[in-house]
Amino acid sequence: RTWELPLLLLLGLGLGLRSQEALPPPCESQIYCHGELLHQVQMAKLYPDDKQFVDMSLSAAPDQVLQSFSTLAAVYNHSIPKQQLQEFVQQYFQPVGQELLPWTPEDWKDSPQFLQKISDPKLRTWAEQLHQIWKKLGKKIKPEVLSHPERFSLIYSEHPFIVPGGRFVEFYYWDSYWVMEGLLLSEMAETVRGMLQNFLDLVKTYGHIPNGGRIYYLQRSQPPLLTLMMDRYIAHTSNTTFLQDNIETLALELDFWTVNRTVSVNLGGESYILNRYYVPYGGPRPESYSKDEELANTLPEGQREALWAELKAGAESGWDFSSRWLVGSPNLDLLSSIHTSKQVPVDLNAFLCQAEELMSSFYARLGDNVQAARYKSLRDQRLAAMQAVLWDEQKGAWFDYNLENGKKNFEFYPSNLSPLWAGCFSDPGVVDKALKYLQDSQILTYQYGIPSSVRNTGQQWDFPNGWAPLQDLVIRGLAKSHSPQTQEVAFQLAQNWIRTNFDVYSQKLAMYEKYDISNGQPGGGGEYEVQEGFGWTNGVALILMDHYGDRLTSGTQLAFLIPHCLVAAFLLHLLLRWP
Ligand SMILES: *[C@@H]1O[C@H](CO)[C@@H](O)[C@H](O)[C@H]1NC(C)=O
Ligand SMILES: *[C@@H]1O[C@H](CO)[C@@H](O)[C@H](O)[C@H]1NC(C)=O
Ligand SMILES: *[C@@H]1O[C@H](CO)[C@@H](O)[C@H](O)[C@H]1NC(C)=O
Repeated sequence: RTWELPLLLLLGLGLGLRSQEALPPPCESQIYCHGELLHQVQMAKLYPDDKQFVDMSLSAAPDQVLQSFSTLAAVYNHSIPKQQLQEFVQQYFQPVGQELLPWTPEDWKDSPQFLQKISDPKLRTWAEQLHQIWKKLGKKIKPEVLSHPERFSLIYSEHPFIVPGGRFVEFYYWDSYWVMEGLLLSEMAETVRGMLQNFLDLVKTYGHIPNGGRIYYLQRSQPPLLTLMMDRYIAHTSNTTFLQDNIETLALELDFWTVNRTVSVNLGGESYILNRYYVPYGGPRPESYSKDEELANTLPEGQREALWAELKAGAESGWDFSSRWLVGSPNLDLLSSIHTSKQVPVDLNAFLCQAEELMSSFYARLGDNVQAARYKSLRDQRLAAMQAVLWDEQKGAWFDYNLENGKKNFEFYPSNLSPLWAGCFSDPGVVDKALKYLQDSQILTYQYGIPSSVRNTGQQWDFPNGWAPLQDLVIRGLAKSHSPQTQEVAFQLAQNWIRTNFDVYSQKLAMYEKYDISNGQPGGGGEYEVQEGFGWTNGVALILMDHYGDRLTSGTQLAFLIPHCLVAAFLLHLLLRWP
């Protein structure tokens, strides 16, 4: 195996995206992934959200649908009126969601232990309600999807699972990690094992885990957290059999990141190998087709395929979209200048560094010292590369590295501290440098949560949106410090976020995928309306309440209100003294 890697790297590195090149489509289906039918229907904008059409299942065999469409297209000389398209879709497609059944997890129980750790009664009641929501987010796939996969965009999974919610009724890769942490607190390890098994099955079938459970997501992945999911499951259950049965599949998933997502960085006469998000597939994303097509139309034809590939790489990063992928371009508001694959991201490399460390300990546990040593050495190499390329001693944090101009991107993103969370550092002093970094970046002045960036671009992974997983990255990273001051800041950040979630829940009886940290309301911006549910938000709220349950309070505005109360008391006093 030792010679394979350098060879594949050489091949991979030669395959930069040249702009004129036609790239393969995101998947084979001529209905859900590319082709005239998809183009005509999506460009006619029959539905407010392009995802709706590609989530509908077929009422007839694909050949018959394509045949009938081609007849229709011929009748109207390839510009079919909206009315006729609508009728065609009604005839050959089913309304969304029918291939999924609601599912109540069998291992759901009334009062998981962790609830007892929460002292504030209002927060405890709220945590109980969040625990109830797992029952609403449970889904199971109908057997028809297994017997007739060609009629569905949904990818069949054998075991039921928990979805994010809202428009996201299928599984998503990195979301599932925070969902699983929440499920484990809810003592639902069986549900977690089923979800893990689904992911492992996908790796066996496709060689990687797709972004989400639809065929149109197939050629892109999402931040690689499978190894960590396994670690959390094993930590809760000690099911070494499950680890033994699946360790090779975990290794296979990491091979995908090595073979398909590696770059070499030359710096100071040394060459370092790190990872990036990179999706060399063309065409608009089927679920955001008209937006991608319209965006591409603002560019010369020769640049469109490259744009579509960069948009998919942005989706693969989980940060779709963000000024993070636009740095170095003249206009941060212009999504058409996105160049995700030209950045070496801190979080991706932190996640992989953690995965390599976990693999080393898994193999050691299973008695395979050769593999344990191999992963240990991969981790050490990555640690050295991250230190050399991404770490900045003066600022006290890690920064994405831009392959085009050879510079670090010194903008603030919570991901700049992700190596702390991932335990991917050798000097324990870096945790306290991180505190200074947050102070210097003026991030601790935001009372409702940590923003995704300090740039307001209208993209959903920028200011003023705050996302649950990014709060977790910073909070549990800082909590690793031995300094009481840094730990106190971690607690305060947890308190801010819990308060925002709790206050919005009290008003709207809902949890959201993101929040506006400038006003403590549900978030906005990006490509679609803010969604309720919401898997990872609930997971992170449960993690924080488990961790800090003895100290967190809902009693929020009280401290705020004291000055107002004093003024009111004084006025009342004046009033009462009035003759
Ligand atoms: C069909 O459309 C093409 C261009 O869109 C045009 O050149 C052609 O004349 C049309 N044919 C008929 C029969 O209308
Ligand atoms: C990963 O790379 C291999 C080798 O080049 C290729 O065959 C495979 O299709 C790639 N996988 C994806 C998802 O692009
Ligand atoms: C452990 O995992 C195996 C599958 O690898 C499964 O059959 C078994 O039931 C699991 N044990 C527990 C205690 O969940």
